[in-house]
Amino acid sequence: MYVCICNAIRESDLRSAARRCCGDAESIYVSLGRPPQCRQCIEEAEDIVREERDRESLPVALPH
Ligand code: FES
Repeated sequence: MYVCICNAIRESDLRSAARRCCGDAESIYVSLGRPPQCRQCIEEAEDIVREERDRESLPVALPH
């Protein structure tokens, strides 16, 4: 699924970049070489970045 239509950024690309890069969604777009254009997607992108980073900080469940 595309998060950003203007820049053809997929949700999976954004999640992967959120794990590698620091900064907000706009910074991540810039790091991908695709700065925001219409900005319609920024709020959703920020939610995805936050969700991905929160998920990264959760402890890994140990097998029983
Ligand atoms: S949809 Fe992302 S900048 Fe336009």
